[in-house]
Amino acid sequence: MTTAHDSVNHTVALSFEDGVTRFISVTPGQTVADASYRARINIPLDCRDGACGTCKAFCESGTYDGGDYIEDALTDDEADAGYCLPCQMTPESDLVLRVSGTAEMAKSGIGTFQATIEKLHWYADNTAGLTLSVEDRDKLNYLPGQYMNVKVPGTDEERSYSFSSGPEAEKLTFLVRTAPDGVMTTYLRERAAEGDTLTLEGPKGSFFLRDVKRPVLMLAGGTGIAPQLAMLEKIEKLAASGVVPAFPIHLAYGATWDKDLVEVEALERYAATIPGFTFDAIVADPASGHPKKGYVTQHLLPGHLNDGDVDVYLCGPPAMVDAVRKYFTGEGIDPTNFYYERFAVGVVAAPALAGAAA
Ligand SMILES: Cc1cc2nc3c(=O)[nH]c(=O)nc-3n(C[C@H](O)[C@H](O)[C@H](O)COP(=O)(O)OP(=O)(O)OC[C@H]3O[C@@H](n4cnc5c(N)ncnc54)[C@H](O)[C@@H]3O)c2cc1C
Ligand code: FES
Repeated sequence: MTTAHDSVNHTVALSFEDGVTRFISVTPGQTVADASYRARINIPLDCRDGACGTCKAFCESGTYDGGDYIEDALTDDEADAGYCLPCQMTPESDLVLRVSGTAEMAKSGIGTFQATIEKLHWYADNTAGLTLSVEDRDKLNYLPGQYMNVKVPGTDEERSYSFSSGPEAEKLTFLVRTAPDGVMTTYLRERAAEGDTLTLEGPKGSFFLRDVKRPVLMLAGGTGIAPQLAMLEKIEKLAASGVVPAFPIHLAYGATWDKDLVEVEALERYAATIPGFTFDAIVADPASGHPKKGYVTQHLLPGHLNDGDVDVYLCGPPAMVDAVRKYFTGEGIDPTNFYYERFAVGVVAAPALAGAAA
C-alpha cells in the first residue's frame, strides 16, 4: 500500500563519532546506504545484503522500515534497542543516525590492491601467518582493527581477514585459523606458495581503535588476537613518540588449545614497551599445563571492568563473542563503549562492528 511516507524525500542526519554530522536526502524506497553512496559518504559497508552487520548504526530519532536481514547481522534485542542496518533500512520520516567511524574515515574510499605472499608460516597445523607486500602501499590507509576481503586464488570466493600489523607497517600481516575443508584453508594448505599474487579489497569494518579516554579491556579468542595486535602496535608507536596511554589497557587472550596461542612474544614485548599494558593468556583445554586455564571471563578482575567505566574491544569466533556479551549482561556490566567483531566463517563477509553503547 502506498502511504504519504512513500512519496516524499526524507533527510537523514549521519552523526559520526568525531562529532561531525552530514545530511543526506533519501528518495522514496531508497536505502540509507544507497543515498550515502550517492552523496559520496562512505559509511561502513560490506555485504550490502543484511548479512554481515558491518553497517550497523543507532537510530536516535525517526521511524523507518528496517528491511530484510539475518539475526547474525542484527539481533532482535539490538533492533528493539534502536540499532539498525543502513544497507537495508528505508526511512519513513527524517532520521538521526549515529554511524560508526569518523567523518574523515567516511571520505576515504575502499580500494582493490594486488599483494604478493612474502611469507607463509604455520604456527601450528591450524593457524597460518601471512606476510604480504602490497603494490601502492601508500594508498592503503587503514585503522588498526579493520579488515580486508581476500579473493581466494583459483576460486570465485572471498574471505575476510583482519590486519595483525599496525597501519604504519610496510608489510601487511594476517593470522588465519583453518576450518575443515574451508576454501581459504584448502588454498593455503594445498596450493599457496610464496610469490603468489592475492587480490585484496578494503579496508573495511568499524572495529578499530578509538582514542584511549578511559581504561581499555581487550578480549580476544583464537585468531581474534589479530586486530588487537594491530591496535597494540599502534599504541606502542604512539607511546614511543611520547603519547603514552593515560589509562591502563588489559588484554585477556583465550585459546582452546595450547597450540592456538600465537604471538605471545609480541604481547610480552608490548607489556614491556607500553606503560600500563598488561595481558593474560588463557587456555580452555582442561588437560593443558598452562598456568591460566578456563575462559577469558573467569580471569577478569574488578579493576579490569572498572565498574563499567571501560572501553571494551572484543574479537573472536561468534560463539566466544556471544558468550562474553551474555556474561556482561548477566553480571550487569554495561561498558561505556563496547566494540566487537565476530569472525564468522562460511560467509563472504560478516559481522564487523559493534555498537557503541552510550
Ligand atoms: C570481519 C571478519 C574478519 C575476519 N578476520 C579473520 C582473521 O583475522 N583471522 C581468521 O582466522 N579468520 C577471520 N575471519 C574468518 C575468515 O574470514 C574465514 O571465515 C575463515 O578463515 C574460514 O575460511 P575458509 O575459507 O577456510 O573456510 P570456509 O570455506 O568459509 O568454511 C568454514 C567452515 O564452514 C564449513 N562450511 C562452509 N560452507 C558450508 C555450508 N554451506 N554448510 C555447512 N558447512 C559449511 C566448512 O566446511 C568449514 O568447516 C574473519 C571473518 C570476518 C567476518
Ligand atoms: S553492510 Fe549492512 S549488513 Fe552487511
